[in-house]
Amino acid sequence: MTIENLGGRFILAPLAGYTDKAFREIAREEGADAAVTEMVSAEGLARDGEKTKALLERFPGEDRLIIQIFGPSDDPVERCMENLLAYNPTVIDINCGCPVPKVVKTGAGSALMQNPEMIGRIVRTIKKHTDIPVSVKFRLGWDSTSINFLEFADKAAEAGAEMLTLHARTRAQGYSGVADKNAFRLLSEHFKDSGILLFGSGDVFTPEDAVSLINDYGLDGVMFARGAIGNPFIFRETKDFIETGSYHLPDTITRIETAMKHLRLMIDYYGENVACREMRKHLMAYIKGISGSSKAKAAIGEALTEKEVKEALSLIRI
Ligand SMILES: Cc1cc2nc3c(=O)[nH]c(=O)nc-3n(C[C@H](O)[C@H](O)[C@H](O)COP(=O)(O)O)c2cc1C
Repeated sequence: MTIENLGGRFILAPLAGYTDKAFREIAREEGADAAVTEMVSAEGLARDGEKTKALLERFPGEDRLIIQIFGPSDDPVERCMENLLAYNPTVIDINCGCPVPKVVKTGAGSALMQNPEMIGRIVRTIKKHTDIPVSVKFRLGWDSTSINFLEFADKAAEAGAEMLTLHARTRAQGYSGVADKNAFRLLSEHFKDSGILLFGSGDVFTPEDAVSLINDYGLDGVMFARGAIGNPFIFRETKDFIETGSYHLPDTITRIETAMKHLRLMIDYYGENVACREMRKHLMAYIKGISGSSKAKAAIGEALTEKEVKEALSLIRI
């Protein structure tokens, strides 16, 4: 697999509760090369569950989509393959990073970091069924006393993974503390000339952060996560930064217009009531940091129609 298969180096990371087709569509319009779905249960997929199917819907014209699955072992992965392949993913990614107790206690997500043999079995199981590239997204290790990302990555690579994404935190860190960027360098040196695509995740909040992971740490590409929530502009900014050496931050009007466009897509896909509720966390992020937005935030928390959201946003003085 090459970067061209992904459309480029800048990808919207998997974000459970966020990276649905509406957010992926907005990110793509704003310059994301590709995106990852929210994590999808292999067991749910094997059972053809309705919730699982909804997570896998694409926006019209979404021609590149990395589908991320999670599961504790090769067994549900084997059983989900037929249904998974029907969605024709660009890449199949395996979640080895989720720290949530509900997931970890089943042996899935970051619990797999404690079982490197199992990631090899899971990758091999997928490869038995398809030539679609397999990728693995993992952490530094379970905690600071058990850092094993290189050994873990070796098991995935030996089994045939073509892409590796390191979130440079341990499971114990969750999403706090700083990502250990030095680990990116160790990863890129370890897999130098292997042909495996190496992506980084963790504390990518600016175009400078993203470009540095490529130029200074030797990675092939970057996944934007929290840095893209309410801020899909970061993809275009990063590309401008590479091309011209500078970039412009969006003004308040652009932020509000993009938020409304995002809401409209959500309404088209899910209906007005669901969309307005689901959009709240996005809206808060779109207007974060704008001075005088506290009244708007309170009103967004109550809004249940497009008109009410519009009225709420109009409380921001431009
Ligand atoms: C709300 C939220 C949901 C996430 N969901 C997923 C997920 O479904 N699968 C996954 O591999 N990582 C998930 N992550 C991790 C992100 O993809 C990313 O690796 C992590 O946030 C580190 O990047 P950042 O520090 O730039 O945000 C999630 C993170 C957040 C904050």
